[in-house]
Amino acid sequence: MKKINSQIVKNKQVLLRVDYNVDLDKKGKIISDFRLRASLPTINFLLKNKAKKIIIISHLGRPEGKDKKLSLLPIAKHLEKLLNQKIIFIDDCVGKKVKEAIESSEEKIFVLENLRFYKEEEKNDKSFAQELAKLADVYVNDAFGVCHRLNASVGAITNFLPSYSGLLLEKEVKNLQKLKKNIKHPFVVILGGAKISTKLPIINEFLDIADYILLGGGLANTIWKARGFEVGKSLIEEEKIPEAKKLGSRKAELILPRDFIITSSFESSKGKLKEIENINKKDIIVDIGETSTKVFCQLIKSAKTILWNGPMGYWENKNFQTATIKIAKAIAQNKNFTVVGGGETLIAIEQLKLIDKYSLVSTGGGAMLEFLAKDNLPALKFLE
Ligand code: 3PG
Repeated sequence: MKKINSQIVKNKQVLLRVDYNVDLDKKGKIISDFRLRASLPTINFLLKNKAKKIIIISHLGRPEGKDKKLSLLPIAKHLEKLLNQKIIFIDDCVGKKVKEAIESSEEKIFVLENLRFYKEEEKNDKSFAQELAKLADVYVNDAFGVCHRLNASVGAITNFLPSYSGLLLEKEVKNLQKLKKNIKHPFVVILGGAKISTKLPIINEFLDIADYILLGGGLANTIWKARGFEVGKSLIEEEKIPEAKKLGSRKAELILPRDFIITSSFESSKGKLKEIENINKKDIIVDIGETSTKVFCQLIKSAKTILWNGPMGYWENKNFQTATIKIAKAIAQNKNFTVVGGGETLIAIEQLKLIDKYSLVSTGGGAMLEFLAKDNLPALKFLE
């Protein structure tokens, strides 16, 4: 990868792509600022090496059009506190107005509005990338967490500006390469969370690499449904069912939870324990049950390498965090090589104060998994 260096940034306007895709609470407050803190070394590098201006771009969530609830304004404000330096927030990310606002300001750091307010971003649109490129002289990609997506701000943009990797991106890639070369067995992979379509194809890859794959969250629900079981109103992705049907143990044993906590609403204060065979049409799976958690923890205990991404249940409701807490703690207690990552997982381990208990914590979820499974990511190829 072409790495950022002091000569190429000096006196230059730098377009810095970061991944500030963080969860906000109902009041718009950031739940975990891990991804913001992880970007500070590159920002400080740019400041120290006298970049003329630093123009920060990111996506946030999956907005459909300009959704004010997914504005980067609260993130810009929080970054200002972390850096202890004035930041100018601009409520758009392309166009004349944005360029003029940057040129006419005496300040050094700018945060632009959510890239995904433009549908062109996720389509890797060349004209959109060209508009972004007009704002700067040099492009730095420090957004490891989104490098598995071929989006304009990590893909097409590299056609229009000299492009380099940032310090976080380099660190993530180096760490994960090291892990890939040193996998010791048994290698246990634990996958959960809500992003089913991102993770389902990855299971296929890990079936040839790992020894055990333990599934929770929407992934487990989707596979049970694909196997003909009732999962009621639980989170699944219907269109992924044909793909899920093909998944079964290969080199790795694929282990699904068999008991679950179910409720009738995500907001419930209490759930009921049920075996997979007894789930009915009205049930919602919100966590995995005690027996399955025990099986998972036992395998985690004997693992020599562990990779974890995604909570086991509906983490947003504290009544359904039990299995995730037990799994997070069991992994933290394993003194072999443990790697955890991803937005929701970072929230969980920060809230549990376990963040420094793992060998490696990645800012990427889907990106981390895809990098380990395939040795590369679509956006990284443009930095070679
Ligand atoms: C992530 O949090 O995994 C990245 O920011 C990518 O987000 P996405 O899954 O919405 O593309």
